[in-house]
Amino acid sequence: MAVKSVTCVAPVNIAVIKYWGKTDEKLIIPLNDSLSGTLHTDHMCAKTTVAISSKFSKDRMWLNGTEESLDNPRLLACISEVKDRARSAGKLTEEELQWNVHICSENNFPTAAGLASSAAGYACLVYALAMLYKIDGDVSVIARRGSGSACRSIYGGFVQWIAGTNPNGTDSIAQQIVPASHWPEMRVLILVVSDSRKKTSSTSGMQRSCENSELLKHRVAKCVPERMSEITKAILKKDFETFAKITMQDSNQFHAVCLDTYPPCVYMNDVSHGIANLIHTINKFAGRTVAAYTYDAGPNACLYLLEKDVPGVLAAVNHVFHTDTKKEEYYRGLSVDLVDVP
Ligand code: PMV
Repeated sequence: MAVKSVTCVAPVNIAVIKYWGKTDEKLIIPLNDSLSGTLHTDHMCAKTTVAISSKFSKDRMWLNGTEESLDNPRLLACISEVKDRARSAGKLTEEELQWNVHICSENNFPTAAGLASSAAGYACLVYALAMLYKIDGDVSVIARRGSGSACRSIYGGFVQWIAGTNPNGTDSIAQQIVPASHWPEMRVLILVVSDSRKKTSSTSGMQRSCENSELLKHRVAKCVPERMSEITKAILKKDFETFAKITMQDSNQFHAVCLDTYPPCVYMNDVSHGIANLIHTINKFAGRTVAAYTYDAGPNACLYLLEKDVPGVLAAVNHVFHTDTKKEEYYRGLSVDLVDVP
Protein backbone atom coordinates (compact mmCIF):
# COMPACT_ATOMS: atom_id res chain seq x y z
CA MET A 1 0.00 0.00 0.00
CA ALA A 2 1.21 3.54 -0.76
CA VAL A 3 2.28 5.28 2.42
CA LYS A 4 4.29 8.48 2.63
CA SER A 5 5.88 9.09 6.01
CA VAL A 6 8.36 11.42 7.72
CA THR A 7 9.94 11.22 11.19
CA CYS A 8 11.39 14.27 12.97
CA VAL A 9 12.94 15.04 16.34
CA ALA A 10 12.59 18.46 18.03
CA PRO A 11 14.06 19.63 21.33
CA VAL A 12 12.51 21.83 24.00
CA ASN A 13 13.39 25.50 24.37
CA ILE A 14 13.88 27.35 27.65
CA ALA A 15 12.77 30.99 27.65
CA VAL A 16 14.98 33.65 29.21
CA ILE A 17 12.44 36.39 28.39
CA LYS A 18 9.09 34.79 29.08
CA TYR A 19 5.98 34.81 26.94
CA TRP A 20 2.94 35.30 29.17
CA GLY A 21 -0.41 36.54 27.87
CA LYS A 22 -2.13 36.65 24.50
CA THR A 23 -3.85 39.36 22.48
CA ASP A 24 -5.66 36.67 20.46
CA GLU A 25 -6.51 33.32 22.08
CA LYS A 26 -7.43 31.52 18.88
CA LEU A 27 -4.53 32.68 16.72
CA ILE A 28 -2.14 32.59 19.71
CA ILE A 29 -0.71 36.07 19.25
CA PRO A 30 1.37 37.00 22.31
CA LEU A 31 1.26 40.20 24.32
CA ASN A 32 5.03 40.49 24.24
CA ASP A 33 8.16 39.41 22.38
CA SER A 34 10.07 36.56 24.03
CA LEU A 35 13.47 34.89 23.70
CA SER A 36 14.77 31.39 24.42
CA GLY A 37 17.59 28.92 23.93
CA THR A 38 16.74 25.72 22.06
CA LEU A 39 18.41 22.80 23.79
CA HIS A 40 20.78 20.67 21.81
CA THR A 41 20.21 17.30 23.36
CA ASP A 42 18.81 13.83 22.88
CA HIS A 43 17.33 13.83 26.38
CA MET A 44 14.51 16.35 26.11
CA CYS A 45 12.95 15.85 22.72
CA ALA A 46 9.73 15.02 21.01
CA LYS A 47 9.93 12.44 18.22
CA THR A 48 7.05 12.41 15.76
CA THR A 49 6.21 10.28 12.76
CA VAL A 50 3.50 11.48 10.39
CA ALA A 51 2.14 9.33 7.59
CA ILE A 52 -0.53 9.64 4.90
CA SER A 53 -2.03 6.83 2.88
CA SER A 54 -4.99 6.12 0.62
CA LYS A 55 -5.63 3.10 2.88
CA PHE A 56 -6.05 5.04 6.13
CA SER A 57 -9.78 5.15 6.87
CA LYS A 58 -9.58 8.15 9.25
CA ASP A 59 -7.14 10.60 10.85
CA ARG A 60 -5.59 9.10 14.02
CA MET A 61 -3.04 10.13 16.63
CA TRP A 62 -1.00 8.35 19.32
CA LEU A 63 0.78 10.23 22.09
CA ASN A 64 3.35 8.25 24.10
CA GLY A 65 1.75 4.99 22.93
CA THR A 66 -1.87 5.88 23.76
CA GLU A 67 -4.40 6.79 21.10
CA GLU A 68 -5.71 10.33 21.63
CA SER A 69 -8.62 12.18 20.11
CA LEU A 70 -7.81 14.53 17.25
CA ASP A 71 -10.66 16.71 18.37
CA ASN A 72 -8.37 19.49 19.53
CA PRO A 73 -8.76 22.91 17.85
CA ARG A 74 -5.03 23.71 18.08
CA LEU A 75 -3.99 20.44 16.50
CA LEU A 76 -6.62 20.80 13.78
CA ALA A 77 -5.46 24.39 13.11
CA CYS A 78 -1.87 23.16 12.55
CA ILE A 79 -2.97 20.37 10.20
CA SER A 80 -5.28 22.59 8.18
CA GLU A 81 -2.69 25.41 7.87
CA VAL A 82 -0.11 22.92 6.59
CA LYS A 83 -2.63 21.52 4.09
CA ASP A 84 -3.58 25.03 2.88
CA ARG A 85 0.08 25.87 2.29
CA ALA A 86 0.57 22.47 0.59
CA ARG A 87 -2.33 23.17 -1.74
CA SER A 88 -0.73 26.47 -2.83
CA ALA A 89 2.73 24.84 -3.13
CA GLY A 90 1.19 22.23 -5.45
CA LYS A 91 3.80 19.51 -4.85
CA LEU A 92 1.24 16.86 -3.81
CA THR A 93 -1.75 15.85 -5.91
CA GLU A 94 -5.26 16.79 -4.75
CA GLU A 95 -5.86 13.07 -4.16
CA GLU A 96 -2.82 12.81 -1.84
CA LEU A 97 -4.00 15.92 -0.02
CA GLN A 98 -7.29 14.11 0.69
CA TRP A 99 -5.58 11.06 2.26
CA ASN A 100 -6.01 10.63 6.01
CA VAL A 101 -3.08 11.28 8.29
CA HIS A 102 -1.67 9.20 11.15
CA ILE A 103 0.46 10.92 13.81
CA CYS A 104 2.61 9.11 16.32
CA SER A 105 4.47 11.24 18.87
CA GLU A 106 6.64 10.49 21.90
CA ASN A 107 8.31 12.69 24.51
CA ASN A 108 11.29 11.37 26.41
CA PHE A 109 10.63 13.70 29.39
CA PRO A 110 7.63 14.56 31.61
CA THR A 111 4.58 15.91 29.77
CA ALA A 112 3.02 19.16 31.05
CA ALA A 113 5.37 19.48 34.04
CA GLY A 114 6.50 22.95 33.01
CA LEU A 115 9.26 21.47 30.88
CA ALA A 116 8.02 22.83 27.56
CA SER A 117 6.77 19.43 26.36
CA SER A 118 4.07 21.02 24.19
CA ALA A 119 6.66 23.32 22.61
CA ALA A 120 8.77 20.38 21.46
CA GLY A 121 5.69 18.35 20.53
CA TYR A 122 4.06 20.94 18.27
CA ALA A 123 7.36 22.09 16.73
CA CYS A 124 8.09 18.48 15.85
CA LEU A 125 4.62 17.77 14.50
CA VAL A 126 4.51 20.89 12.32
CA TYR A 127 8.05 20.37 10.99
CA ALA A 128 7.27 16.73 10.15
CA LEU A 129 4.00 17.69 8.42
CA ALA A 130 5.80 20.47 6.51
CA MET A 131 8.31 17.91 5.19
CA LEU A 132 5.59 15.38 4.38
CA TYR A 133 3.45 17.91 2.49
CA LYS A 134 6.58 19.53 0.95
CA ILE A 135 5.84 23.10 1.98
CA ASP A 136 8.50 25.82 1.90
CA GLY A 137 9.14 28.95 3.93
CA ASP A 138 8.76 29.76 7.58
CA VAL A 139 6.70 27.24 9.54
CA SER A 140 7.15 28.82 12.99
CA VAL A 141 3.95 30.73 12.25
CA ILE A 142 2.12 27.36 12.01
CA ALA A 143 3.81 25.79 15.08
CA ARG A 144 2.64 28.87 17.03
CA ARG A 145 -0.97 27.79 16.45
CA GLY A 146 -0.28 24.57 18.40
CA SER A 147 1.43 26.04 21.43
CA GLY A 148 2.81 29.59 21.37
CA SER A 149 6.29 28.72 22.59
CA ALA A 150 6.53 25.89 20.01
CA CYS A 151 7.39 28.46 17.32
CA ARG A 152 10.78 29.02 19.00
CA SER A 153 11.68 25.28 18.90
CA ILE A 154 11.60 25.38 15.08
CA TYR A 155 15.06 27.01 15.18
CA GLY A 156 18.25 26.14 17.07
CA GLY A 157 20.47 28.37 19.20
CA PHE A 158 19.00 31.56 20.67
CA VAL A 159 15.66 32.39 19.13
CA GLN A 160 13.30 35.35 19.47
CA TRP A 161 9.56 35.28 18.93
CA ILE A 162 8.41 38.63 17.59
CA ALA A 163 4.88 39.32 18.81
CA GLY A 164 4.05 41.14 15.54
CA THR A 165 1.48 43.83 14.84
CA ASN A 166 -0.75 42.18 12.25
CA PRO A 167 -4.13 41.15 13.77
CA ASN A 168 -4.15 37.99 11.64
CA GLY A 169 -0.83 36.87 13.15
CA THR A 170 1.14 36.53 9.90
CA ASP A 171 4.07 38.51 11.35
CA SER A 172 4.06 36.74 14.73
CA ILE A 173 7.05 34.54 13.95
CA ALA A 174 10.21 33.08 15.45
CA GLN A 175 13.65 34.11 14.22
CA GLN A 176 17.07 32.76 15.09
CA ILE A 177 19.33 35.35 16.75
CA VAL A 178 22.46 33.17 16.75
CA PRO A 179 23.05 29.46 16.17
CA ALA A 180 24.25 27.32 19.12
CA SER A 181 27.79 27.42 17.60
CA HIS A 182 27.98 31.17 18.41
CA TRP A 183 28.32 30.43 22.15
CA PRO A 184 29.61 26.84 22.31
CA GLU A 185 30.47 27.08 26.03
CA MET A 186 26.82 27.67 26.99
CA ARG A 187 25.17 24.85 28.98
CA VAL A 188 21.77 24.28 30.54
CA LEU A 189 21.19 22.15 33.63
CA ILE A 190 17.61 21.08 34.27
CA LEU A 191 16.91 20.37 37.93
CA VAL A 192 13.77 18.25 38.02
CA VAL A 193 11.98 19.21 41.23
CA SER A 194 8.74 17.50 40.27
CA ASP A 195 7.61 15.67 37.17
CA SER A 196 3.88 15.71 37.97
CA ARG A 197 1.46 17.68 35.78
CA LYS A 198 1.15 21.37 36.64
CA LYS A 199 -1.99 22.47 38.50
CA THR A 200 -2.77 25.53 36.37
CA SER A 201 -2.12 25.16 32.65
CA SER A 202 -0.22 28.00 31.03
CA THR A 203 -3.32 28.75 28.91
CA SER A 204 -5.61 29.37 31.88
CA GLY A 205 -2.85 31.02 33.95
CA MET A 206 -2.21 33.51 31.14
CA GLN A 207 -5.91 34.25 30.71
CA ARG A 208 -6.26 35.01 34.40
CA SER A 209 -3.15 37.24 34.46
CA CYS A 210 -4.48 39.19 31.45
CA GLU A 211 -7.79 39.69 33.23
CA ASN A 212 -6.46 41.17 36.43
CA SER A 213 -2.68 41.57 36.84
CA GLU A 214 -1.61 45.24 36.86
CA LEU A 215 2.01 44.12 37.00
CA LEU A 216 1.60 42.30 33.68
CA LYS A 217 0.69 45.60 31.97
CA HIS A 218 3.81 47.29 33.34
CA ARG A 219 5.95 44.29 32.36
CA VAL A 220 4.69 44.28 28.76
CA ALA A 221 4.88 48.06 28.24
CA LYS A 222 8.11 48.85 30.03
CA CYS A 223 10.26 45.89 31.04
CA VAL A 224 10.15 43.37 28.19
CA PRO A 225 11.12 45.75 25.32
CA GLU A 226 14.21 46.95 27.25
CA ARG A 227 15.15 43.43 28.30
CA MET A 228 14.77 42.03 24.78
CA SER A 229 17.17 44.62 23.44
CA GLU A 230 19.70 44.26 26.32
CA ILE A 231 19.75 40.46 26.37
CA THR A 232 20.11 40.29 22.58
CA LYS A 233 23.18 42.54 22.82
CA ALA A 234 24.54 40.39 25.67
CA ILE A 235 24.10 37.20 23.60
CA LEU A 236 25.81 38.77 20.57
CA LYS A 237 28.74 39.93 22.78
CA LYS A 238 28.75 36.66 24.80
CA ASP A 239 28.42 38.77 27.95
CA PHE A 240 27.34 36.09 30.45
CA GLU A 241 27.07 38.48 33.41
CA THR A 242 24.40 40.64 31.72
CA PHE A 243 22.68 37.63 30.11
CA ALA A 244 22.39 35.90 33.50
CA LYS A 245 21.14 38.97 35.39
CA ILE A 246 18.36 39.67 32.86
CA THR A 247 17.42 35.97 32.75
CA MET A 248 16.95 35.81 36.55
CA GLN A 249 15.17 39.18 36.69
CA ASP A 250 12.74 38.14 33.98
CA SER A 251 11.98 34.79 35.62
CA ASN A 252 11.40 36.54 38.94
CA GLN A 253 9.10 39.09 37.32
CA PHE A 254 7.15 36.42 35.47
CA HIS A 255 6.49 34.57 38.76
CA ALA A 256 5.65 37.90 40.44
CA VAL A 257 3.01 38.41 37.71
CA CYS A 258 1.70 34.92 38.49
CA LEU A 259 1.37 35.88 42.16
CA ASP A 260 -0.15 39.26 41.21
CA THR A 261 -2.87 37.30 39.39
CA TYR A 262 -6.08 36.75 41.35
CA PRO A 263 -6.54 33.96 42.35
CA PRO A 264 -2.73 33.55 42.15
CA CYS A 265 -0.94 31.00 39.98
CA VAL A 266 1.74 29.40 42.14
CA TYR A 267 4.27 27.45 40.09
CA MET A 268 7.47 27.58 42.16
CA ASN A 269 7.68 25.61 45.42
CA ASP A 270 10.05 25.72 48.41
CA VAL A 271 12.65 23.60 46.62
CA SER A 272 12.50 25.93 43.60
CA HIS A 273 13.11 28.93 45.87
CA GLY A 274 15.89 26.99 47.62
CA ILE A 275 17.65 26.48 44.29
CA ALA A 276 17.33 30.19 43.42
CA ASN A 277 18.86 31.07 46.81
CA LEU A 278 21.67 28.61 46.25
CA ILE A 279 22.50 30.21 42.87
CA HIS A 280 22.65 33.69 44.42
CA THR A 281 24.88 32.30 47.20
CA ILE A 282 27.23 30.63 44.69
CA ASN A 283 27.41 33.85 42.63
CA LYS A 284 28.10 35.94 45.73
CA PHE A 285 30.89 33.70 47.05
CA ALA A 286 32.48 33.32 43.61
CA GLY A 287 32.53 37.13 43.26
CA ARG A 288 31.12 36.77 39.72
CA THR A 289 27.99 35.42 38.05
CA VAL A 290 28.50 31.68 37.71
CA ALA A 291 24.94 30.60 36.85
CA ALA A 292 21.43 31.93 36.18
CA TYR A 293 18.15 30.24 37.09
CA THR A 294 14.89 30.45 35.23
CA TYR A 295 11.53 28.76 35.91
CA ASP A 296 8.63 28.23 33.51
CA ALA A 297 5.07 27.40 34.60
CA GLY A 298 6.26 24.71 37.01
CA PRO A 299 8.69 24.15 39.90
CA ASN A 300 11.63 22.80 37.85
CA ALA A 301 14.77 24.93 37.67
CA CYS A 302 16.63 25.53 34.43
CA LEU A 303 20.15 26.79 35.01
CA TYR A 304 22.09 28.56 32.27
CA LEU A 305 25.84 28.44 32.88
CA LEU A 306 29.16 28.07 31.07
CA GLU A 307 30.79 24.68 30.60
CA LYS A 308 33.73 25.44 32.94
CA ASP A 309 31.29 25.99 35.82
CA VAL A 310 29.16 22.87 35.37
CA PRO A 311 31.18 20.60 37.75
CA GLY A 312 31.24 23.21 40.55
CA VAL A 313 27.54 24.02 40.30
CA LEU A 314 26.57 20.35 40.08
CA ALA A 315 28.71 19.60 43.15
CA ALA A 316 26.99 22.41 45.10
CA VAL A 317 23.52 21.23 44.01
CA ASN A 318 24.41 17.63 44.93
CA HIS A 319 25.78 18.74 48.30
CA VAL A 320 22.73 20.81 49.26
CA PHE A 321 19.96 18.71 47.73
CA HIS A 322 21.51 15.17 47.66
CA THR A 323 20.55 14.84 44.00
CA ASP A 324 20.56 11.92 41.65
CA THR A 325 22.50 12.97 38.57
CA LYS A 326 21.20 10.95 35.66
CA LYS A 327 23.77 11.87 33.08
CA GLU A 328 27.29 13.21 33.47
CA GLU A 329 27.93 13.90 29.84
CA TYR A 330 27.95 17.32 28.21
CA TYR A 331 27.38 18.25 24.64
CA ARG A 332 28.54 21.23 22.68
CA GLY A 333 26.07 24.04 22.27
CA LEU A 334 23.08 24.45 24.53
CA SER A 335 23.46 21.05 26.05
CA VAL A 336 21.42 19.75 28.90
CA ASP A 337 21.84 17.65 31.97
CA LEU A 338 18.88 16.30 33.92
CA VAL A 339 19.18 16.18 37.67
CA ASP A 340 16.43 14.94 39.99
CA VAL A 341 16.07 17.14 43.04
CA PRO A 342 14.15 15.22 45.73
O1 PMV B 1 3.50 27.86 24.87
P1 PMV B 1 2.83 27.66 26.19
O2 PMV B 1 1.36 27.89 26.12
O3 PMV B 1 3.18 26.33 26.80
O4 PMV B 1 3.35 28.80 27.20
C1 PMV B 1 4.68 28.82 27.68
C2 PMV B 1 4.86 29.86 28.72
C3 PMV B 1 6.17 29.81 29.45
O5 PMV B 1 6.81 28.57 29.34
C4 PMV B 1 5.90 30.05 30.93
C5 PMV B 1 7.12 30.92 29.00
C6 PMV B 1 7.79 30.74 27.67
O6 PMV B 1 8.06 31.75 27.03
O7 PMV B 1 8.10 29.60 27.28
